[in-house]
Amino acid sequence: MERGDLAVVELQRNSTNFAKVIEEIVKIEKKIFPKHESLSRSFDEELRKRNSGLLYMIDLHGEIVGYVMYSWPTSLSASITKLAVKESHRRQGHGEALLKAAIQKCRTRNVHRISLHVDPLRGAAMGLYQKLGFQVDSLIKSYYSPDRDAFRMYLDFDPK
Ligand SMILES: CC(C)(COP(=O)(O)OP(=O)(O)OC[C@H]1O[C@@H](n2cnc3c(N)ncnc32)[C@H](O)[C@@H]1OP(=O)(O)O)[C@@H](O)C(=O)NCCC(=O)NCCS
Repeated sequence: MERGDLAVVELQRNSTNFAKVIEEIVKIEKKIFPKHESLSRSFDEELRKRNSGLLYMIDLHGEIVGYVMYSWPTSLSASITKLAVKESHRRQGHGEALLKAAIQKCRTRNVHRISLHVDPLRGAAMGLYQKLGFQVDSLIKSYYSPDRDAFRMYLDFDPK
């Protein structure tokens, strides 16, 4: 998938650069997310689960500028488990491109619903999810930590 000088790539479990890509993403993850919200210690484990995938965006020089992780635990529903764009590369449409690509991947599994959790204070993420049609389902108190809640959001598809 091409986006100007950027490309969205699917991480392959058996690829030779698997460890290097994870290492880069863990670095970005640590910069962006507080510990209790970070998957940095469990990325590898998450990705080794069947039914999960990771797409990342690279620039001309091969630098990773963002990533999105998704899973489809059942044949009916999928989740977006992580989405981030490097601070220096934000507001250029990359987050939207990554999320759309992940939605497309989930749709190929024929799921009826994609859900996710987001801290209501994450304005940029809320704006993006709403732009792509996600709706708020409910507020889950103390989801991330005792004083940080989450909205559960969902996007439904019409049966084909
Ligand atoms: C959320 C995030 C991935 C957005 O990435 P991005 O590449 O900057 O977003 P885009 O440029 O693709 O923006 C797409 C849409 O998102 C919304 N958006 C993005 N940044 C926004 C901001 N600062 N304020 C409000 N809305 C914003 C807008 O609707 C925007 O559409 P528009 O350009 O037509 O206005 C990025 O801000 C990020 O990594 N944030 C920290 C991590 C995070 O919160 N992840 C999600 C929770 S897991």
